[in-house]
Amino acid sequence: MIEGYTELNPCKTYLITGSAGFIGFFLSKKLLSQGCQVIGLDNLNDYYDLTLKRSRLKELEKDEGFVFIKGDISDKKVVSYVFSKFKPQIVVNLAAQAGVRYSFEQPDTYIQSNIIGFYNILEACRHSPVEHLIYASSSSVYGANTKVPYSTQDKTDNPVSLYAATKKSNELMAHAYSHLYNIPTTGLRFFTVYGPLGRPDMAYFSFTEKLLQGKPIKVFNYGNCFRDFTYIDDVVEAVTRILCNPPIQKFEKGSILDGIQYAVYNVGNSQPVQLVELIRVLEQKLSYATGRKIMANIEFLPRQPGDVITTYSNSTPLEQNFGFKPETSLEEGLEQFVNWYIDYFGVK
Ligand SMILES: NC(=O)c1ccc[n+]([C@@H]2O[C@H](COP(=O)([O-])OP(=O)(O)OC[C@H]3O[C@@H](n4cnc5c(N)ncnc54)[C@H](O)[C@@H]3O)[C@@H](O)[C@H]2O)c1
Repeated sequence: MIEGYTELNPCKTYLITGSAGFIGFFLSKKLLSQGCQVIGLDNLNDYYDLTLKRSRLKELEKDEGFVFIKGDISDKKVVSYVFSKFKPQIVVNLAAQAGVRYSFEQPDTYIQSNIIGFYNILEACRHSPVEHLIYASSSSVYGANTKVPYSTQDKTDNPVSLYAATKKSNELMAHAYSHLYNIPTTGLRFFTVYGPLGRPDMAYFSFTEKLLQGKPIKVFNYGNCFRDFTYIDDVVEAVTRILCNPPIQKFEKGSILDGIQYAVYNVGNSQPVQLVELIRVLEQKLSYATGRKIMANIEFLPRQPGDVITTYSNSTPLEQNFGFKPETSLEEGLEQFVNWYIDYFGVK
């Protein structure tokens, strides 16, 4: 553990952007359960089924400690209002346009939310100082890298999608603001996060729909594709441990960066799984849960632009500094997901 590790402080005000989203919901829920005041900000866009975002919000709104603001982080007035009214001490920026494939169809929304939106958050932290800004980066920043496992020491100069480029840009922007305005920032490179109430645009979710409907499942790069699936509870645990522990100041005598508080971590399971293995586990869990024999009809196709072959996290620095690293097995995590899915959608 880092020297002087600080437990989560329930007396602080936490601003969580993207709180109606998958990770934002579970993080907000955890903080509320610990007695924290959580300000949620989300524009409730319709990138995927809004009913799911509303279900998450409904659950959060049961807690008195939760205040929800429907607003867009790319609107500077909204962001300034939230910072001046609630004076958050800890900010977690999860609001973003996610997804690699969608960035080919709708690049504008990536620039709007991920670049302008994040810039507004940085500006707000500059003018209303915060104790710590944590923001979502992504394993996609490793782009065309072939050396695995991915380490935060590796170069990340070869993004292969606009989504990845916006996340890398966030890290660079955070670095400049940490240096210029003494804002302690921590970027978290999440690796394929999955679980109950997850994102319908992600493979494990859409494969489940298709398996239940007996529709073909498209697997690209002829199945040569590995993902480091990371269970939502592990991600929330990692973020929670980091919240009250801004990066330790780095002092390098004579360096222009003297005193900067800037860090980036991988948050991944370190156990990459081939997509066909994901399908096999889903078949098994769905067959068990429904009492029917569920079998996939896989269509193998060539690699798509923007896809990377493997994601594989080296999460050792996370473990060394915070005494925790994700390790829920895919079997365990998918069982939770499948049970939720069957119940939520009333699958017979
Ligand atoms: N889930 C993953 O596997 C994964 C992997 C790597 C990185 N990430 C990053 O983690 C963060 C959270 O991801 P998630 O899976 O919970 O996605 P999500 O889409 O479920 O959540 C994002 C939320 O942000 C909101 N939002 C989007 N643009 C906004 C804007 N301009 N203003 C206000 N709200 C806005 C959306 O309505 C949504 O509710 C994102 O930044 C994403 O890029 C996620």
